[in-house]
Amino acid sequence: MDHSASLKLDDKEFSLPVMVGSEGEKAVDIRKLRVDTGYICYDQGYGNTGSCESAITFLDGDRGILRHRGIPIEQLAQSSDFVETSYLMIYGELPNAAKRKEFGQRLRQNAAVETQMQRIFEGFPKDAPPMAMLSSIVASLAAHYPHLATNSFDKDLANFDLAAGMAISKVRTIGAMIYRYKKGLPYIFPKQELPFCQNFLHMMFSEPYKEYVAEPEVARALNLLLLLHVDHEQNCSTSTVRMVGSSAANLFTSISAGICALSGPLHGGANVSVMQMLQTIHDEGDDGTRFIAAAKSGSRDSRLMGFGHAVYRNFDPRAKIIGKACEDVLNKLGIKDPLLEIAKKLEQAALKDDYFLSRKLYPNVDFYSGIIMRALGIPISMFTVVFAIGRTPGWIANWHELAANAKGRIYRPRQIYTGPAERDYVPMDKRV
Ligand code: CMC
Repeated sequence: MDHSASLKLDDKEFSLPVMVGSEGEKAVDIRKLRVDTGYICYDQGYGNTGSCESAITFLDGDRGILRHRGIPIEQLAQSSDFVETSYLMIYGELPNAAKRKEFGQRLRQNAAVETQMQRIFEGFPKDAPPMAMLSSIVASLAAHYPHLATNSFDKDLANFDLAAGMAISKVRTIGAMIYRYKKGLPYIFPKQELPFCQNFLHMMFSEPYKEYVAEPEVARALNLLLLLHVDHEQNCSTSTVRMVGSSAANLFTSISAGICALSGPLHGGANVSVMQMLQTIHDEGDDGTRFIAAAKSGSRDSRLMGFGHAVYRNFDPRAKIIGKACEDVLNKLGIKDPLLEIAKKLEQAALKDDYFLSRKLYPNVDFYSGIIMRALGIPISMFTVVFAIGRTPGWIANWHELAANAKGRIYRPRQIYTGPAERDYVPMDKRV
């Protein structure tokens, strides 16, 4: 294969190198384009732009493939758990028994939120959106642990293991505390002896006078849910983490920015929109037929939420796993959720409908994840927070990859300016 591309501009021909990734993904390297030609590339939404080289996640949206550090998501879902997969994401290999133990201990030892940090919560109104609270409180970790957040890559990398463990563990604790605060309930402290997911459920649902002990099915379902959300290549929030981190901003600050990006309804907020849609269909006594007809109108406001994806043109492999898990969990817990029935009917109808088939619109991870969370007793308002807990290791892995790359540059896209040409300032008394 010829490892260059040629580009003809203004009667001049330029040669551009071609890059090939380890899975055969091809790119034209345009790093010198502007210097050599005066042109930039226009790619609104960055759908054709590779912003980095990464060895973390491989995703092929046309074939419905998702692999973390080379391991298919199906195998991780089957055999691993969230904490082990987090280690894999961050350190690149599955841990041996000693490393797994050490990593687990770091998470356990850093689960608690200090008293001074707890006071931040009190400043928020009770109806504050949980994701707004989460991003602010996670940003404040940089203020509480300044020695881990110096904004110098070298110093922050030297303390990376502790900062990473702290971020994974504390994002979960802060998430549970947000839930308790908004409900006006006392905070429940983490327990050293509990595994990661059981500890989260304990901090959410125990009472000072009554211990909540998670059913094994419940803890397993949460584990799977978090694992399936662990990373997803250069999506909106992960790119945001890298964008912010590229200025040498510390890990906590960069993760906080990722949480902000995740909060939007087209990204992490989609699981909330799916539940609202299913609830509306249920409340209106529709079986989904009317909703599907409306979704085909092409209006952005009546889309079938949980369907379609910016990169998958095939089944989202996570949706297949989660759809099956959803049924299993509800069966095991003996829960009959009418919203699951509606979701299944919607999926069956859409997968037979030419509108969805011709546009390659399939269920995405959010289509069933909300029903599982509802079965676990997690309220809708907390869905995106749970997504953020799951995505934190992916953000950490991406921040680390960026920070450890000595040749990295600050992210600074260009633009095509479309505003007025140069003109003079008009004094107030001369303005119309
Ligand atoms: N329902 C009905 N029509 C749709 C839908 C949908 N959910 N999604 C896309 N379309 C149509 C769209 O109207 C367009 O039709 P036409 O070609 O006639 O103009 C065509 O399909 C292609 O749409 P697009 O806007 O180019 O697709 P996109 O790749 O830019 O958008 C998306 C991807 C995820 C924003 C979109 O599919 C969507 O809004 N889905 C619903 C929201 C959702 O579930 N989001 C969660 C994404 S997964 C979570 C994550 O990874 O963050």
